[in-house]
Amino acid sequence: MKVALGVSGGIAAYKAAELVRIFQERGLDVQVVMTRSACEFVTPLTFAALSGHSVISEMFGRHPGQANLESAIEHIEVAQSIQALIIAPATADLMAKLAHGLGDDFLTTLALATPAPLIVCPAMNVGMWDNAATRSNVALLRKRGVRIVEPDEGYLACGMTGPGRLASTDAIARQVFETLGLREDLKGETVLVTAGPTCEDIDPVRFLSNRSSGKMGYAVAEAGLRRAARVILVSGPTALAPPSGVELQQVRSAEEMEKAVLARLKEASVVVMAAAVADYRPAKTGARKMKKSDTPRQLILKPTPDILKSISKSISNRRTSQLRRKPLIVGFAAETDHLVQNARAKLNSKGLDMIVANDVTRPDSGFDADTNRVTFVFPNGKPRVLEPMSKQDVANRILDEVVRLRSKNRS
Ligand code: C5P
Repeated sequence: MKVALGVSGGIAAYKAAELVRIFQERGLDVQVVMTRSACEFVTPLTFAALSGHSVISEMFGRHPGQANLESAIEHIEVAQSIQALIIAPATADLMAKLAHGLGDDFLTTLALATPAPLIVCPAMNVGMWDNAATRSNVALLRKRGVRIVEPDEGYLACGMTGPGRLASTDAIARQVFETLGLREDLKGETVLVTAGPTCEDIDPVRFLSNRSSGKMGYAVAEAGLRRAARVILVSGPTALAPPSGVELQQVRSAEEMEKAVLARLKEASVVVMAAAVADYRPAKTGARKMKKSDTPRQLILKPTPDILKSISKSISNRRTSQLRRKPLIVGFAAETDHLVQNARAKLNSKGLDMIVANDVTRPDSGFDADTNRVTFVFPNGKPRVLEPMSKQDVANRILDEVVRLRSKNRS
């Protein structure tokens, strides 16, 4: 989910840097847009480094006459791709422009072009805030559905005291998350997610692996962040960008994944094992590339550790493994036949609270697809068959069950 953070030229511009971090912690991808005067207060480099994206501040490229087609239509592209435009701080001048529909720079043009909700967080001197023109501009914006996060009262940079100080980052974040419809039902939970395949090296060039893309696990990680959980993502090699805000631990083999998961287990209240862990690894890994001439015709394999079984063992030896609580455990079962029957057998043998069974024979389900067809299987009760849906929606449905099971465990 992408949002744009517009920064205009007020002394409070530096506080917007903190907003970037708060938004990222909830899994939001933040594009910062600055007005020319904002760049006098804070350098665009600060925001670029925090957000991971170049800051947009000019409408037509850096120098007059150097615009190209991409820069000329960039505001439309950003306008269409964001779920909200937040302007913090918004100066009196910027609000006047918004109220009157002016579009003389990138930020005001973006505000005109985007269908996304607009959240405006004013910050200015008390006299400017109380000025009749500002009052009527604020009223006009509010009437048009713009959400205004009222400034706080207090000591202002100009030495005066009164209303005009940028609202707290908490108040701004609350308004943004509410506008985006982000739930907070995993607040206080730490979700440990595994994702992607594992690679079991034969030599420095060749390895055994599987077709997992990591999309399902990354979707769970992102959905967890959006619902206010702390998320630890232990990922095998994938081509995906990790959601900003996760604590990422990259691993390669099943053994490395097991080590990482067991090391972080005591922090987790929920474990979602979406990784497609290789079941076997070569018995020996060559230190040098094997030559065609001396490559053995048979590969001797050894089983890899079953991470879920190791987790179950840690839970039953809770005292020695220093676990304070039993985390809720969700496993996955990729199946080509007897979906529910096979999934239930895994649920029981691995001691899980829930298993997500997916049929990997269909093109719209399983490995590398953007959608999934899954069935939830629990230790008791009937399996729940879900209609085909995006992996993001599946992730949220899994987390709905996690919330339900966690509250059942507590009561
Ligand atoms: O037995 P199978 O590999 O089908 O089980 C799938 C579930 O078990 C997944 O949740 C997967 O992450 C986990 N698993 C594991 N360790 C393995 C193999 C699979 O934890 N060695």
